[in-house]
Amino acid sequence: MSLYKKLDLPPVPKELEPDFDLLLSSGVAPVWSNRPRTATRGEEIVEHSRYDRFEISHALKTWVDTNITADYKNIGISHMWGASVNLPHTDHTRDVTMLYVFRTGGVAVETRFWQRKGYPIHHQNKDVNYQYNTDQPTTYDDLDLIDSITLPSHQWYILDARCIHSVEGMTDSRISLQLGFLRQSPWAQHIFGDQTPG
Ligand SMILES: [Fe+2]
Repeated sequence: MSLYKKLDLPPVPKELEPDFDLLLSSGVAPVWSNRPRTATRGEEIVEHSRYDRFEISHALKTWVDTNITADYKNIGISHMWGASVNLPHTDHTRDVTMLYVFRTGGVAVETRFWQRKGYPIHHQNKDVNYQYNTDQPTTYDDLDLIDSITLPSHQWYILDARCIHSVEGMTDSRISLQLGFLRQSPWAQHIFGDQTPG
């Protein structure tokens, strides 16, 4: 079963890339920010990075809608900063995430996929109305590493966001364009094919 896939799709034109230095220094408020938390790893206490989500420009959205897909549930710019690790979690607004990394946040930043001992790979904790209840493990000690990938910049990837995942090894801020999909999305079904978990 594949938890990620590289996609052969056109790169975002340079002129449509947000001016990140301007964005981050201009005081524009993110549309969403995470809350601080920690997780234990043996005796170690691991800090969670900050995660801010910004709206994208109309021009970039139009380009994505036209050249990539308009079938997403949500779209935004994600900015991880302030710590080397974005702790293990499942996404709370989407089943499948499509990523285009602008700034990797370091030379060896890994997206790691985890399985909680005794639990299925896919987080099932959603109610019948499809309200998400994200899984945020408070310790690494009952997680098994099942896969990892170092996402390069300026390349489209799709990830299965219902599997517990983390981002590790950041030495700088990490910025990406993210599109979220439900698992029933025709686009997600098309990309993952019959491997798309039901
Ligand atoms: Fe995530």
